[in-house]
Amino acid sequence: MPESNQQRLIWDWPTRLWHWLFAIAVVGAWITGQWGGFDWRQWHFWFGQSVVGLLIFRLVWGIVGPRHARFHHFITGPRRLWAYLRTLPERTAPESAGHSPLAALSVIAFLAVLTLQSVSGLFISDDILYEGPWFPAVSADTADWFSSIHHQLGWPIIVLIGLHILAILAYRYYKGYRLTSAMITGKKPNSRVPASASIPGSRSLLAVVVIVLVIVLTWWLLVVAPPEPAADLDFW
Ligand code: HEM
Repeated sequence: MPESNQQRLIWDWPTRLWHWLFAIAVVGAWITGQWGGFDWRQWHFWFGQSVVGLLIFRLVWGIVGPRHARFHHFITGPRRLWAYLRTLPERTAPESAGHSPLAALSVIAFLAVLTLQSVSGLFISDDILYEGPWFPAVSADTADWFSSIHHQLGWPIIVLIGLHILAILAYRYYKGYRLTSAMITGKKPNSRVPASASIPGSRSLLAVVVIVLVIVLTWWLLVVAPPEPAADLDFW
């Protein structure tokens, strides 16, 4: 294979799998929450619970995962972000191997907003049929406060997703970066990223251990640890 056709591994498989599962869970929770009514409420809970588990995994993987998945590797201060933003209009500016400073900002926004949204869902009730597992643990005022957060964040999440997809398209058509295929295969061509940016592997064994531990922890948090549900409500 000619040198220019060879590929370097940038995104480990747990980060890629996480990305697409997260996209499905967030969009699924949004559609079933916004449009599903009572018929889809159970699905809304399953998608929402999956978002909680996925967020826990990503927080751990951001500490112990390979280089480009690690928070301290891609989160930058305002000075680097500003320097990067000034190069944005240049079509030929070199591509970031992992997340650019702007992409890092969107990762933080996604993780922060979806944490608020999924955690708030655990503490609220529709006062008719369903309640989150931690609803009985808080006062009515606190539940109302969580409920207003949960109901207000639906559209901002769609705006975040819209900006995310617009940015991917802008990079594709303005700069010629094929970011989506890299989020599927994990690889970028040699011509676009230096050898020093390549990761040696996905830390698969560690990933499997973390995945199992996160599933157990999420189960415990959502099913085992919550207090007894209030009377007269259906539970999830
Ligand atoms: C629809 C819901 C979606 C959500 C909630 C979402 C969320 C995210 C998040 C949180 C990241 C950071 C990944 C990480 O470091 O773990 C990311 C990165 C990325 N996403 Fe999405 N995403 C969505 C849809 C999509 C779609 C439809 C595409 C393709 C068209 C896409 C392409 C990408 C790419 C290429 C990156 C890496 C960007 C970079 O090179 O820095 N995403 N996404």
